[in-house]
Amino acid sequence: MKIKNICCIGAGYVGGPTMAVIAQKCPKINVTVVDINQKRIDAWNDEDVENIPIYEPGLSDVVKEARGRNLFFSTDVDSAIENADMIFISVNTPTKTYGIGKGMAADLKFIELCARQIARVSKNDKIVIEKSTLPVRTAAALKNILDNTGNGVKFQILSNPEFLAEGTAVQDLMNPDRVLIGGDIDTNKGKEAVEALVDIYATWIPKENILTTNVWSSELSKLTANAFLAQRVSSINAMSELCEKTGADVDEVARAVGKDSRIGSKFLKSSVGFGGSCFQKDILNLVYISKTFGLNEVADYWEQVIIMNDHQKRRFAEKIVKTLFNTVSGKKIAILGWAFKKDTNDTRESAAIYVTDYLLNEQAEIVVYDPKVNPEQIYADLDYLSYRSDEENRKAVTIVSSAEEACKDAHAVAVLTEWEEFNVLDWEKIYEDMLKPAFLFDGRRILDRRSKENIGFEFYAIGS
Ligand code: NAD
Ligand code: UGA
Repeated sequence: MKIKNICCIGAGYVGGPTMAVIAQKCPKINVTVVDINQKRIDAWNDEDVENIPIYEPGLSDVVKEARGRNLFFSTDVDSAIENADMIFISVNTPTKTYGIGKGMAADLKFIELCARQIARVSKNDKIVIEKSTLPVRTAAALKNILDNTGNGVKFQILSNPEFLAEGTAVQDLMNPDRVLIGGDIDTNKGKEAVEALVDIYATWIPKENILTTNVWSSELSKLTANAFLAQRVSSINAMSELCEKTGADVDEVARAVGKDSRIGSKFLKSSVGFGGSCFQKDILNLVYISKTFGLNEVADYWEQVIIMNDHQKRRFAEKIVKTLFNTVSGKKIAILGWAFKKDTNDTRESAAIYVTDYLLNEQAEIVVYDPKVNPEQIYADLDYLSYRSDEENRKAVTIVSSAEEACKDAHAVAVLTEWEEFNVLDWEKIYEDMLKPAFLFDGRRILDRRSKENIGFEFYAIGS
């Protein structure tokens, strides 16, 4: 089965980069990425490729090469579906904010809308691929919708979860540890569909790194991978608090532990807490699924990863207040970094949001600097919490365009994203321009303690 036309529904952090790389690697396949968000599509089509809506190192070069050749961005969802042999569903699957499973289950309404639209529009057989992260057994619901169109069109449903991390998306897509494809491998049609997708990836990925499984294993593996990764961060963050009490240093502990080849060194960097759109959402989803099956111990086990993460964010903010003589009321605090990690402009679930919220409740005056995040996004993140009006947030939070400006006349500085540039700031000048004592809180452990203390800072880093 030769694929000529691909459609991807959802032009977000996953749909955009994954399709750009497929289009670049497979110039004979037409790839159309569609979205209902006109602004987003316009940005993907912006003449100046540096204005594409997602900041990822290397992405603009990939888009530049393929866009207009065999990579297209459009809001005409119907036409793209109709013309495609293969459709990736890459829409958002946020945590439900209403009804059954509120605050835990994944909200599948966008997925279902896609399925109904595919069912309505399709005139010939198609392969439909779950690219979004979904609860195990979602494919059964998709199949139910797609098989009941009554128009004779046949669909094969595959699960092909995405493992890219933001900030390294292009690198991860070019050279993934593995690609996972789940399909109905017990039937010939199912096998054909799996092979069609394997062939696409095999254009640039060694076949031994392309794993095929049944659909349920594939769906569950994605949730498992994220849960394991987040669990490691919570594990090292739990140790960070113990380090602070005992004189141990969490980086030294991580290095010693990570040298054990059975444990490995990655994902052991203690921080102010993990953020991002997926870890929390996917674990909550896992907790919800476990509870639905009556597996309460399994649910409690995974929920602890989130409890630890919330604790880490809160205790960092608390540390700032306690260190500043138990009050930050009316004090200026500079927040360096708003993105949930470096090299991305994504702020979803960023620890900075929660630390700032805590400090605002303590009546601090906040000044934020982030090299890539749009100022309006910062206000939108705070407004989304619904604790204060937009007007109140704009009054209490100022957003500036340099770290130096943020730190001027501040009582304290908190580093919340590990942007490289924070390491090479003129910290002596920053110290001079701050109120004294000048407090510096490193929530990412990127700054060298000794040199900062020599300058005169009262220095605190999480985990030592
Ligand atoms: P996103 O919010 O950035 O993008 C989703 C896009 O889908 C939005 O632009 C939205 O407008 C569009 N959309 C929603 N419903 C639509 C519809 N009916 N028709 C057309 N477009 C529609 O989300 P994302 O970060 O790209 O994540 C997408 C999925 O991939 C999620 O399930 C997520 O868990 C998973 N995932 C994300 C990452 C990541 O790094 N962000 C990594 C792996 C997996
Ligand atoms: C994560 C996974 O790494 C991807 O494999 C997965 O595809 C993706 O979620 C997803 O499903 O969305 P991402 O959230 O983009 O990717 O970024 P990570 O590098 O995993 O970082 C997540 C958070 O954990 C960040 O806030 C990061 O700063 C934090 N982190 C990570 C730590 O605090 N310490 C670490 O050692 C590693």
